[in-house]
Amino acid sequence: MNDYQTMKKIQKALIVLLTLCHCLCLSANNSYNSEKDIYRKVDSIMSLMTLDEKIGQTIMYSGDWNKTGPYVTSDNMKFLKEGNLGSMLNVYTSKGTKELQKIAVEETRLGIPLLFGYDVIHGFKTIFPINLGIASSWDLKDVEEVARISAEEASASGVHWTFAPMIDIARDPRWGRISEGSGEDVYLTSEIAKSYVKGFQGENLSHINTILACAKHFVGYGAAQAGRDYHTVNMGDNELRNVYMPPFKAAIDSGVETFMTAFNELNGVPATANQYIFKDILRNEWGFNGFVVTDYTAINELVNHGYAENEKHAAELAINSGIDMDMMSGAYRRFLKELIVEGKVDETLINEACRKILIAKFKLGLFDDPYRYSNEQREEETIYRTEFLESARKIASKSSVLLKNINKALPLNNKQTIALIGPLAKDKRNIIGSWAAAGDRNGKAISIFQGIKEYLDESNIMFAKGCDINSNNYSGFNEAVNIAKKADKILMVLGEDYNMSGEAASRTNIKLPGLQTELIKTLRDELPNKEIILILMNGRPLDLTIEDSLVDAILEIWYPGTSGGLGVADILFGKYNPSAKLPITFPRNVGQVPIYYNVKNTGRPISNDNPTEDYKSNYIDSPNTPLYPFGHGLSYTTFEYSEIKLSNNKVRESEILKASSIITNTGEYDGHEVVQLYIHDKVASITRPVKELKDFKKIFLRKGESKTVTFEINSDDLKFYINGKRMIESGEFEIAISGTSDFEFNKTFNLTLD
Ligand code: GLC
Repeated sequence: MNDYQTMKKIQKALIVLLTLCHCLCLSANNSYNSEKDIYRKVDSIMSLMTLDEKIGQTIMYSGDWNKTGPYVTSDNMKFLKEGNLGSMLNVYTSKGTKELQKIAVEETRLGIPLLFGYDVIHGFKTIFPINLGIASSWDLKDVEEVARISAEEASASGVHWTFAPMIDIARDPRWGRISEGSGEDVYLTSEIAKSYVKGFQGENLSHINTILACAKHFVGYGAAQAGRDYHTVNMGDNELRNVYMPPFKAAIDSGVETFMTAFNELNGVPATANQYIFKDILRNEWGFNGFVVTDYTAINELVNHGYAENEKHAAELAINSGIDMDMMSGAYRRFLKELIVEGKVDETLINEACRKILIAKFKLGLFDDPYRYSNEQREEETIYRTEFLESARKIASKSSVLLKNINKALPLNNKQTIALIGPLAKDKRNIIGSWAAAGDRNGKAISIFQGIKEYLDESNIMFAKGCDINSNNYSGFNEAVNIAKKADKILMVLGEDYNMSGEAASRTNIKLPGLQTELIKTLRDELPNKEIILILMNGRPLDLTIEDSLVDAILEIWYPGTSGGLGVADILFGKYNPSAKLPITFPRNVGQVPIYYNVKNTGRPISNDNPTEDYKSNYIDSPNTPLYPFGHGLSYTTFEYSEIKLSNNKVRESEILKASSIITNTGEYDGHEVVQLYIHDKVASITRPVKELKDFKKIFLRKGESKTVTFEINSDDLKFYINGKRMIESGEFEIAISGTSDFEFNKTFNLTLD
């Protein structure tokens, strides 16, 4: 080695030594970094960083996976070693993350730790029902529990950050990603958003079992035209602010640390370069101070959108819109420095982006101990803990919606013989749904068949697949008919392949795929009086108009997750009395879409007693009403609601109005009921929905028991946006307490302003 090389080696060793003791003394004072401490430390580290290293923090690339675990392509490894990579996605396991973290910490000039992000959407290894199912529970404690357990497992497996919750309002079941959200309603999705954030981030991000949450996709993604993924989004500012933005504001109110951009354009400007939503609203109006990551290659896509001339221009547009981190496009790595030199991008934007990302890493304690999330023993002890699998069973029960149940077809008893028919009856691959993170599709999940065997002797169960999920193969029909003839009841488990919903999985036809409906018809024709119970495993509202006319009971289980078979069996055999309610409307047919409960009245509303009246806002070939409305869900028992009582019929803006109803369990089973509060602002400066959910309470009533449920309504509940301002207006409001959105108002109150 010549003198120059020796000198370089000594210099590098000195820098590393200086930096290490710099970081150590910074973190020596306490491992629980206070906000002030963190800012001071970040300033110190940034004072050592080159521009390249700051740009490096804004860059995120994906890891890849082979049978031995995560691996990194040579290019990304090069960027990592150069300090040109601040975060990675799709890398997990303690071992895999530790190996990469060691390179970042021990082989780069300043040793800044990597951030590992992953799509932990409805579980990490223990997979819960898909999010549309979890929303069906209307149980905010359960939502938080799902996120908490997901964070326990993910953080034990090297993951620092989840790209969740997905809180896009969606009203179009053609859109495959409706499965990932919490349905059509602003209030329900906003409350659920808060619970997810609390569950993922816990009390303090310095605790080792917490992970950063990410509010996505900002904004309007669920309103893609024609339900076609990534399609154009156009809407007025009032609709944007009254419907699609509130869940994101709710996530901020719960302290969410990161946001993700939406792929779609919004009113002609792609979200990933949209200064109105990311600077004017997110930063300046809402004061969000976490960091914003793009969706996957979204910066490059500004060129396809026809909004950027090339990828360099795209990088300029994105960073100037306040987008801090570039997921996968490479545009920031390739062009930011050049853009600064050309004066098109101000270096302060890089500093701000880098700073926010370093603050998040400090909050997670990664500078105190970069390997704290990569502990193989903890991983071993945490994954699939019994209580996690039990929680998944409980939540699978609480997420399944009983849509129909005539003549008490359900629950089953354990004396009956069952013909278990359908391509999803023994399924262990689809049952965990899409976006199932590190979940196992090769056998870990409990199938519906396995769940039923917990209650029924196998000799009482006859099985026939009957047909595929999606083929024209009739060859299994006869076997299905034959076993059905011998059985007391027919249990069919039908639905969609998990790849038929989720990302890039929009459908124009929302019926059961393949010959599944044909199979039901054949069984009904052959056995007109035998009870058929339909169990649905699917990721979106389906057009069930035909099925509803053929079967005696329908249980919507969505994709119920790792313990799904047990959770569903607990309902089928009455151990758990179903309590879930739809967070999303089920149409009669796709022609009604978009269809949702909180519509506007129009100038020519139909009247219920004459729904086909001419020259009204209706169809000549279908009712306006859905097959199953938002908030619908049956129980094995029945609940009666007394007339609503108000503390006053007149209320001032500064006063609280109390509304109450006595709910009685009038049936034969103890059970839960989701009591819902709706209002209707009858006249306002912009038209208001005919109904709006404003609160709900999930109560438990023993059979025969009554409880008074009281809601408090304050002025905040009655506000809405007009032209960017949140307003409240005096006037008459209708109000109701109900167990579904399908009701008629019969009570009003009058609001006067202070
Ligand atoms: C995907 C999704 C986004 C996800 C990201 C990383 O394209 O749109 O929701 O978090 O890429 O996997």
